[in-house]
Amino acid sequence: MKRYAFAIPAILSMSIVSAHSVAADDPIVKAQELRQAPMKLIGNNFGFMVGMLKGEIPWNATEFSKRGNELAAMGQLDLGRGYMPGSYKGHTRASADIADNMDDFNSKMRDFESTLRDLSAVTGKPDALKAAVKDLGDSCKGCHKEYKNREYAG
Ligand code: HEC
Repeated sequence: MKRYAFAIPAILSMSIVSAHSVAADDPIVKAQELRQAPMKLIGNNFGFMVGMLKGEIPWNATEFSKRGNELAAMGQLDLGRGYMPGSYKGHTRASADIADNMDDFNSKMRDFESTLRDLSAVTGKPDALKAAVKDLGDSCKGCHKEYKNREYAG
């Protein structure tokens, strides 16, 4: 009996550990995290810049330009990575329409990356950068309207 009293908690804790590592190693979960992470950073920088344009955040030309440089750097990344078959369920708002329209989605993503990279030409010019950030909003909206759901799939 004594042996079992020790064995049971050990087995329980082992199963907790393995359940956790299965989720962390799940290639679908990894793919979803991978595509959401750069979008989070883009959203943070873009939101900050729009906040300054709207006067919700005090104007600071240096900070505005710094955030623009970060956005430009994001354009060096492959933002279309992680949209793999079976990844449209669970903790994701990516629409399953992406899978059926991969060429269109990828071409929108390539255009977006290049628009981000183009920001590097205007980060030293606040007025041009302001205009570019306003235009950038159309890229976000255009793709989100078609390919991003409002709610998480699961
Ligand atoms: C070519 C398509 C495309 C463009 C362009 C695009 N996004 Fe996204 N974005 C997506 C998709 C798809 C998701 C959903 C990813 C998921 O949930 O797996 C997403 C998710 C997000 C998220 C949520 C990330 C999270 O935490 O899950 C934010 C924030 C975001 N985008 C901001 C932006 C901003 C800001 C822009 C423009 C500056 C932008 N996106 C441009 C496709 C795009």
